[in-house]
Amino acid sequence: MKIMQVTAEVSRAETATAEALVLTHCEGEGLAGQDAALIDRSLGGALSKLVQSKEFEGKANEVLLYHTQGTVPAKRLILAGLGKKSEVTLEKIRQAMGSASKRVRQAKVGSFTVALPSIPPTGVSWVEVAQAMVEGAILGNYRFTVYRSETASEQDIKGMKILIPRKDQLQEVTEGIRRGVATAEATVFVRDLCNHPSNVLTPTKVADEAKAVAKAEKISIKILDQNEMERLGMGALLGVSRGSQEPPKFIILEYNGTKKKDERPVVLVGKTITFDTGGISLKPAENMEHMKADMTGGAEVLASIRAAARLKLPLRLISILPVAENMPGGRAMKPGDIVTTLSGKTVEVQNTDAEGRLILADGLAYAMRYKPAALIDIATLTGACVVALGQFAIGMFGTDQTLKEQVRKSGLTAGERVWEMPLWDEYFEQLKSDVADMRNIGGRGGGMITAALFLSKFVGDCPWVHLDIASTDWSERDRAYVPKGPTGIGTRLLLQYLIDRSL
Ligand code: BES
Ligand code: MN
Ligand code: ZN
Repeated sequence: MKIMQVTAEVSRAETATAEALVLTHCEGEGLAGQDAALIDRSLGGALSKLVQSKEFEGKANEVLLYHTQGTVPAKRLILAGLGKKSEVTLEKIRQAMGSASKRVRQAKVGSFTVALPSIPPTGVSWVEVAQAMVEGAILGNYRFTVYRSETASEQDIKGMKILIPRKDQLQEVTEGIRRGVATAEATVFVRDLCNHPSNVLTPTKVADEAKAVAKAEKISIKILDQNEMERLGMGALLGVSRGSQEPPKFIILEYNGTKKKDERPVVLVGKTITFDTGGISLKPAENMEHMKADMTGGAEVLASIRAAARLKLPLRLISILPVAENMPGGRAMKPGDIVTTLSGKTVEVQNTDAEGRLILADGLAYAMRYKPAALIDIATLTGACVVALGQFAIGMFGTDQTLKEQVRKSGLTAGERVWEMPLWDEYFEQLKSDVADMRNIGGRGGGMITAALFLSKFVGDCPWVHLDIASTDWSERDRAYVPKGPTGIGTRLLLQYLIDRSL
């Protein structure tokens, strides 16, 4: 998918020439005082009639297309509902733009203009409003068509122009566009990587993608192969990949946007299982194809470092991807096997399907070498997360109050919300092994918690947050700007955290 070109212009909606002009509208307010009122008179009151008759009410995600027949310079108007004025949030704006831009594409219009909503949600800047508009518009039009032989009749939208009433808003809106394009582009990259099937996107191919990112953005990269991993003693990651014909990879990318030599980095670690069959503890067949997206975390930390470099964020950032395919094979790890992790701790593998925490154990131990100022891992880690939180929340765990607070706040801004779960040491009794330092499953209760607690044993006292995205990485249906299938959720949260941290 080609990302649309986004521009800003100081001018008024009434005089805008456009194939389609999008105006946002709040529910239950009538037309007066709202953006569409400016154009209504030229249309002979047509819009106020539509609002009065409740043919268009302005409910969240409602859209209406109206042909202007030459009465104003814009050929078509698209009204996009924001819901009640008092309840408008950045998320509502994102969704309205997702719905509106989908309508633009359905109308087979190549580019459109949108007025900056005159009523901003309280407590947010124009930077954030513009960023949300761009994210909604780009992500609402996401499609994955690489493997389809027929070309779609509706072309991708090429351009979007944001109209700004006041000149003094231009600088903020321009910055919002820059950020929105970067975060949307990153999410698209993640969705694409997760949509590609595992026969194409093998660990080796992930390494190639990472190399391409490093080359394009001029950031440094190191890729450890199986021999080097053996030399270092990454027994957990190697154990997971043993059942596969695909060699594992361990990818480290480093971006330095600061002049300061001694600045401690933010380190991101992403679970990158290109396919999770469960291994010898084989998964049931139903929905197993979703497990091609078990590399979402890794894709997100790769996309994040690419975006951080493109945005030239003034920080030092390291992204780490432990990459493997979890397969049952003649040489596969078996229940009861004991592996020695990079940290030296031993783990009894009671279930080979709890592989994410194994590769992350080595990923996190490696990350500790950088003495991170903040360490965040992100992973499609547990089915228990799906059970506990469902579609709309990311499970968050952590050892550092400040870092947790920052992540929570950035998640709220990004519309990718986290919900904190306990990381109490009492749960560790469930992870005790009779033969090794710990086992890799925690039994019946609190599956999301015991997985997180397992990880915590590999991060020392470093400020650390763990994000379980198993419930949000895949959507069962199309939403305003989230498609059915891989969602890329988590990417904008990570980037918002990095942006907020850089301010
Ligand atoms: N990748 C899965 C978790 C998952 C499940 C992600 C559903 C997305 C949707 C993970 O590797 C896994 O298999 N976890 C097991 C752990 C169990 C064996 C302790 C699970 O949750 O069933
Ligand atoms: Mn698994
Ligand atoms: Zn997995």
